Amino acid sequence: MTQNEASTLVLFGAKGNLARVKLIPGLFKLDLANKLHPNMKIVSVGRQEESHQDWLTNIQNIIRAKYGDQDLDAAVLERFLSRNIYHANLPDDPEAFKKLSKRIIDEKLSQNLAFFLSVRPSDFANIIDDLAAAGMLDETNNWKRVLIEKPFGYDSQSAAELQTSIEKHLKETQIYRIDHYLGKFALQNILFTRFYNSFLEPIWNKHHIDHIQVTNHETLGVGDRTTFYNATGALRDMMQSHILQTLTLATMEKPTAFSPEDIRAEKIKLLNSIKQIPLDNFENNVFRAQYISGEIKNEGPVKGYLEELGEESLVETYAAVKLFIDNERWRDVPIYLRTAKRLHENATYISIKLKPQKIFNNEFSDNWIIISIQPKESIHIEMKTKVPGLDETKTRKIQLSGGIRMPEDETIDSYETLLLDLIEGNQSRFLHIDEVNAQWRLIDPIIEKWQDKNIPVHNYVAGSTDPIASKIIFENDDQFWRTSINIED
Ligand SMILES: NC(=O)c1ccc[n+]([C@@H]2O[C@H](COP(=O)([O-])OP(=O)(O)OC[C@H]3O[C@@H](n4cnc5c(N)ncnc54)[C@H](OP(=O)(O)O)[C@@H]3O)[C@@H](O)[C@H]2O)c1
Repeated sequence: MTQNEASTLVLFGAKGNLARVKLIPGLFKLDLANKLHPNMKIVSVGRQEESHQDWLTNIQNIIRAKYGDQDLDAAVLERFLSRNIYHANLPDDPEAFKKLSKRIIDEKLSQNLAFFLSVRPSDFANIIDDLAAAGMLDETNNWKRVLIEKPFGYDSQSAAELQTSIEKHLKETQIYRIDHYLGKFALQNILFTRFYNSFLEPIWNKHHIDHIQVTNHETLGVGDRTTFYNATGALRDMMQSHILQTLTLATMEKPTAFSPEDIRAEKIKLLNSIKQIPLDNFENNVFRAQYISGEIKNEGPVKGYLEELGEESLVETYAAVKLFIDNERWRDVPIYLRTAKRLHENATYISIKLKPQKIFNNEFSDNWIIISIQPKESIHIEMKTKVPGLDETKTRKIQLSGGIRMPEDETIDSYETLLLDLIEGNQSRFLHIDEVNAQWRLIDPIIEKWQDKNIPVHNYVAGSTDPIASKIIFENDDQFWRTSINIED
């Protein structure tokens, strides 16, 4: 369905990597799918002069590089190019933002303005100040929205400072905080799967579930991003938002309605009900490690983290955390979150272990429900059955597996979904400030505690499975890491 109102997307950082790789191709895809209003325009803002014609050539090159020449619909390409304008906001010009505002008025573009700040997080506050000073955030006659991309600060304090500087000019309904994971289809499908399939809800609680694991593993190392990574670490990079958001969708209560407001309200409630890590029993709840040299499948021998970095560091490339949600549904069910670079596989999934079943004098605990997010989008239910034959005692595990995606299905990039949400004013897949704050409240004490050199940084060989010592965070000996979405023995 095409939008029913015109709008103008103002893209700061239009010459940057994200704009080139995701945003411009994504906007073209939305146009191709007839999702954009005929009078939706895109003003790309850069810091250097560039002619209109050069900018259009640049856009064409980006689109041809992404989608190839063959299937490109000339009429849609023409239509897309006609939506685009380049505007130079020269850094040394004090009138730059006034000129931008005037340009939008002079070109008779819609005053429903969506600002996508595809720039460094340290530039967010200044750009928002300048937009406000130029009167471009005033919603008296039209809506004004600003999109910023995670990270929202690097701890609670810096997140609060960012918030203070932007809430001077913007209401919460105007701020679109991206965690691009929330644009992933498999994540969007979690709530649907949970609440539209009647056999799941009755068992989705502490009475039937033994524990939950949320896993994000990569075979990739830190590569040439050592400076960034050593200032960030696995916990901040992946767990603070992506993994906690994934957990939230898997465990939140059913919203009153599937409206953006109701979904966000339940997510906030869930995040606020996660208990703080007990600092007096830290080592049984939190674990960190770094990869040392090893061998990665299809890649060969690789260096260890400290060799790549070239200096000593306490920064973790593996983080595992145990959490508890203090509400009726989940009280006392351990939640294990983990993320790592240079592990044995690339996989993001939620694995849910059901409680053991007592039959006669034996306990059986072979039931898992697994929701795989990437690279496979699939759902698996693991069960125990008898092996056909005369031996009455022989059993085996089987999996009922379903791929969510069929070959003919559309592939939609996260940014396409999120760009459309921004233009249409749907905040359900964007983070509310209360979510950001709740996430930092959980992560801050861990980061602070990890400044202590006496807390060990364990090692694991690149390409291996989880470090054995990480088992320390399990509640009991029957619990263990799943190392694959496939059946394990
Ligand atoms: N790239 C990705 O895949 C990716 C993924 C997730 C998140 N992000 C986030 O997305 C944002 C952009 O990332 P990126 O990789 O595209 O960065 P980038 O390649 O460094 O591009 C940033 C662009 O912003 C421009 N810029 C900076 N200040 C500006 C201003 N005041 N007005 C207009 N343009 C301005 C820069 O222009 P100059 O050329 O003049 O310096 C540069 O072209 C960052 O917040 C990043 O964390 C990126």
